[in-house]
Amino acid sequence: MPFQKFATLAELPPGSVIEILRGDDAYALCNVNGDIRALSGVCPHQGGPLGHGAMEGQLLTCPFHLWQFNSATGACDFNEAIRVPTYPVRVENGEILVDIPDA
Ligand code: FES
Repeated sequence: MPFQKFATLAELPPGSVIEILRGDDAYALCNVNGDIRALSGVCPHQGGPLGHGAMEGQLLTCPFHLWQFNSATGACDFNEAIRVPTYPVRVENGEILVDIPDA
């Protein structure tokens, strides 16, 4: 699957996270001091919308029960075995491109 445009840098200021929907799938797009990261938008706990969570440094906090995930690796902060899938990101001309797997 080629990289797909998810958003522009203007839509994702440092310290923010937004939800992007593609078909039936939700993704969480984060900006950690200018480093853009893409994760699945579905929390592995009970399916909370990670794209509606909050950033604290590089940790992404789920809005439902406040589990936190490393936005670079997807690992849960209290159990590394629990992981959110992460996806490659490229930024070109102010556009954020994400390589998501084929449906
Ligand atoms: S659904 Fe995300 S912490 Fe419970």
